[in-house]
Amino acid sequence: MKVTSAEFIKSAFKEAHWPQGTQPEIAFMGRSNVGKSSLINSLLRVRGLARTSSLPGRTQSLNFFLINNRFRFVDLPGFGYVRVPKSIKSEWGEMVTSYLAKRTQLVLSIQLVDSRHEPTKLDLQLHEWLEHSGKPRLIVATKSDKLSNNELKRSIECVKRVFGEDSVVAYSAETGRARDEVWRTIEDALTASRV
Ligand code: GTP
Ligand code: MG
Repeated sequence: MKVTSAEFIKSAFKEAHWPQGTQPEIAFMGRSNVGKSSLINSLLRVRGLARTSSLPGRTQSLNFFLINNRFRFVDLPGFGYVRVPKSIKSEWGEMVTSYLAKRTQLVLSIQLVDSRHEPTKLDLQLHEWLEHSGKPRLIVATKSDKLSNNELKRSIECVKRVFGEDSVVAYSAETGRARDEVWRTIEDALTASRV
């Protein structure tokens, strides 16, 4: 995919603020600090369009980006950030699950897990949720540059086993590893949504 334009559209804390129109959307989700915003910037080959931080909980609302004037990326808030009060925590879950359940133009859900750790209970819950939704999804293991080849191989096998999936993509926002592969999946989802 040749990215000719990428712009921030808006940040939405509630459904009424989701952007209108029927452009297809690709959503990025996973626990806080896993690398969602970094993956978006890396795919677009820009710095700082999606705000990243070494402090978990950076992205607290749904952030919409318009790509090539044709489709959108949605950076969803991360879950599992312990230092957030309970009330906000449930609001986050609510924001994400209602987006996933209601958004008709969602064509692909990209679930991120940290390649350095075994999937957590919350990762599994999200995975089950997505599986039940029956919509196209892709699992990406982030920060693969932090592991040796052997460690990475073991980690990918582990994620596959725990999730019961055949395919898990090892990504690195540092090196751009698997960038083309993720774009291919996005393009396929966009094409499939048009028929
Ligand atoms: P929240 O918005 O808090 O939910 O986090 P996020 O999932 O958007 O994570 P973010 O992209 O902000 O990345 C968190 C930290 O991990 C940052 O310090 C990034 O630089 C780092 N990081 C993300 N992806 C990679 C990667 O592939 N390799 C390495 N080495 N670091 C990464
Ligand atoms: Mg973020």
